[in-house]
Amino acid sequence: IFKNAFLQIPELSKCSVLMRERCRVEETIYNMQQTGPENLQVISDFDMTLTRFAYKGKRVPTTHNILDNRLLIDENCTKKIKKLLNTYYPIEIDARLSTEEKLPLMVEWWTKVHKLLMEQKIRKDLLAQAVRESPSKLREGYKMFFDHLAEQNVPLLIFSAGIGDVLEEVIRQNHVFHPNVNIISNYMDFDHTGVLQAFKGQLIHTFNKREGALAHAAHLTELKGRQNVLLLGDSLGDLTMADGVSNVQNTLTIGFLNDQVEERKELFLNSFDIVLVKDETLEIPNAILKNIF
Ligand code: TMP
Ligand code: MG
Repeated sequence: IFKNAFLQIPELSKCSVLMRERCRVEETIYNMQQTGPENLQVISDFDMTLTRFAYKGKRVPTTHNILDNRLLIDENCTKKIKKLLNTYYPIEIDARLSTEEKLPLMVEWWTKVHKLLMEQKIRKDLLAQAVRESPSKLREGYKMFFDHLAEQNVPLLIFSAGIGDVLEEVIRQNHVFHPNVNIISNYMDFDHTGVLQAFKGQLIHTFNKREGALAHAAHLTELKGRQNVLLLGDSLGDLTMADGVSNVQNTLTIGFLNDQVEERKELFLNSFDIVLVKDETLEIPNAILKNIF
């Protein structure tokens, strides 16, 4: 019977789709199909998962990098943030280092960048323009992804170590900030004149999403009782985004392997149910959702 569910998703046979246990994937999709959209919730990372990694040979900016606009920050600050990116991003994705080794370095990266941003006196009323002027890009198929979930009343939790205010503006400008979307991220705290003075709450970086998930579980009440989880991410740290969900019956995890492909393939295959190699689209998640609905 499981083969049946599989045959209806020809997209899964593409050579960019890797699975360590095909059978488990088939069985999970079948189970999700049987219990329907009313039992499903989707939890997704944002930067380089819902947004593209690259476009026309150039890297697409993350929510942090969207702020790299003279409207918001000066040239000197841009240089410093770029330097930090060049230092810490290779560490973030280094297959030879453990999460424990990366953890303090990620805190260091985020803390330094947020401090630089706060020194720039960023104005809230200019964020939307900076997003409009940026080459930020959601993955191909995003409209179907967001719209389908909204139509089926399936909650979509976007869990991002990026900047929440920028993230919201990106999805708003793409007309997909639907009522079923919840966001956990780093939000800016503006003073009464609309100038950035701090970041709200506990800092979220790539490898502490578990803590964030547990902290937010209590008030995300609409997610309770939805025992099937479809999780999308591009980092091993993203796998802990569902740790706040209790009574999970079926989980299907999809990992976008964008960078350091050969070095990380094994690690990703052992960690995600489905690994998408250099796939800049949401074709596979969309095909799976279509099968469940
Ligand atoms: P995500 O959780 O939505 O993927 O966002 C986190 C990503 O942001 C992570 O992969 C690293 C990236 N990042 C930057 O691009 N620039 C920065 O300055 C920082 C702190 C993070
Ligand atoms: Mg990401």
